[in-house]
Parts: sequence; structure tokens; C-alpha cells
Amino acid sequence: MIEEILALKKERRAVILAHNYQIPSVQDVADLVGDSLELSRAAARLDEGVIVFCGVDFMAETAAILSPQKTVVLPVKGAWCPMAHMITPDQLRDLKALYPDAAIVCYVNSTAEVKAESDICCTSANGVQVVNSLENNQVIFIPDRNLAAYVARHTKKQIIPWDGYCYVHDHFTPDEVRAARALHPGAEVLVHPECRPDVIDQADFVYSTAGMGRHVSSSAAREFIIGTEVGMIYRLVKENPEKQFYPLSEKAVCQNMKKTNLEKVLRALQTLEPRVSVPEDIAARAKRSIERMLEVKV
Ligand code: 13P
Ligand code: SF4
Repeated sequence: MIEEILALKKERRAVILAHNYQIPSVQDVADLVGDSLELSRAAARLDEGVIVFCGVDFMAETAAILSPQKTVVLPVKGAWCPMAHMITPDQLRDLKALYPDAAIVCYVNSTAEVKAESDICCTSANGVQVVNSLENNQVIFIPDRNLAAYVARHTKKQIIPWDGYCYVHDHFTPDEVRAARALHPGAEVLVHPECRPDVIDQADFVYSTAGMGRHVSSSAAREFIIGTEVGMIYRLVKENPEKQFYPLSEKAVCQNMKKTNLEKVLRALQTLEPRVSVPEDIAARAKRSIERMLEVKV
């Protein structure tokens, strides 16, 4: 099946992008495995006419918004991020009416309609820099309350959060961090900024998934406790075979990220379906928010 995928990929002039939480066989067949920011940058830069996006809905939508001339395929129609749907455009408009002087920063884990209502996007890799790049002193930060709390600790601006959350990261507890440290006393603890503040307080470092990869490669430590979705461990082991990795919780599984498999990737290349497209008027406004983010230096 891998050979079939690679041959068809060539024939179609397609590129396969995969998020760090994808299953190992999908990561292995991908041209690029990365975090949301890296994958958005790649979608904007790559020449291939077809993008097979192995991830969840908002990621493929972002690629389609940045490259409307390309065919963007999400191999599984129902692969979605629940957090991205925790705020609607109407709810955002109501919030905006309450804080007319605030800028709206929208985590990329959001729908295209919500991005279209926002001033600028951010990812977990650049949230602080995006907020600090704004002139406004008040910032509405949607939809993740935990990333909002993390950013609020690293800026002087007033952050008005929305009450969304990622069920995978919000589930970690400080007791789990303490228990993992007791089991692996020499290990560094790395967590994602989608974790709750009391979990972040117990960690040594806070990074996006790509940031975790960079940290691990350059750290002198030999052991790491990884506070994010378990799929991240595969890549860390592959790139650092001499180091040891322990998931903060084996239960940290994003069900939607696991829906993609090689059969679905092959089918997507054969049929170029399910195709992701965003209505032109929404895409044009959402694109402004994403491109503005890509201009911010990290
Ligand atoms: P990253 O951008 O850090 O890869 O995170 C995306 C995501 O969905 C985290 O749950
Ligand atoms: Fe969404 Fe959480 Fe899954 Fe990331 S891990 S895609 S934030 S549900």
C-alpha cells in the first residue's frame, strides 16, 4: 500500500502533510510532519497542486484558505477538532460588541467562519508573539481558555478568554505530573500550552508539538515526560532513538487524529475526495487573519 501511495502521489503531483498526532504509518508516508504552524507555512509555500492533509478539519481548511487554487483533501470526512467548534460566529460577534476596543486573536483551532470574524490567528507556537504584536491593550482570545491563560501570563495586555478547551489536554492533572516525576526522577517534563494552568505550573517547559521536538533534540537530558497527545512520542523516538520518552498519560488520545490510516490516504489520492473548500467570501476574510499571523516573527 505504501508503494501504491507513493506512486499515485507522484502521478497526481500531490504532497502529503501530516500532523504530529497522526498514527505512525501515516507519519512515515508523509512528506512533512509538523505542528499547526509548520503545516500552515508549508501549505502556503508548496508548489504541488494537490495537498492530502492528514490531520483534522481546521488544518485542512487553513490550507484551502491559503491556497484556493490547490485541491485540498482531508482523507476522513469526519475528522474534526471539537474545540474548533466551541465558539460560533454569532457568539464571537456578541463578545465583540461587549469589548469594542479589543482585538480578536483566534487560535487556528477554529472554524473558517470564526477566523473570518477575527483580526489575527495564532497557533500554540506563536500565541504570545501574536498578542504582543498588537497595538490594542485588550485582546479577546478564542476559543481555548487554557492557551488564553498561558498567553495572559506572558503579556501585559488584558486577555478576555473564551471558555473552550481541548478534551485531551484539559484532562491532564497536576497529580499525574507528580506521579510521573516520582517514577522518572531524572526526566524533564514538557507540556503543551493547551494544558490547564495548574498542570503548566508543574512542568519544566511549555511548547507546541514542534517546539517539543526541537527542545528534545538540543537538551542534554536523556529522559522526557511528554504532556501532549500520545502520537507525539513516535516522532520523538524516531528522531532521538538514544533518549527515553514517557507519555504523561496513555489516555491522552485525540480520537479524530487517529481516524486517518493508509487505506484512507490511498483512497484520498485515488478519488481526490473528501475535498475541502471554503466559500470565497469567508475564505478571503479568514485569509487576512492567517496571513497576518504568518507575518509575525517567532
Ligand atoms: P500544535 O500546533 O502544537 O501541533 O497543536 C495542535 C493541536 O491540535 C494541539 O492539540
Ligand atoms: Fe483538537 Fe485537542 Fe485533537 Fe488538538 S488534540 S485536534 S485541540 S481535540
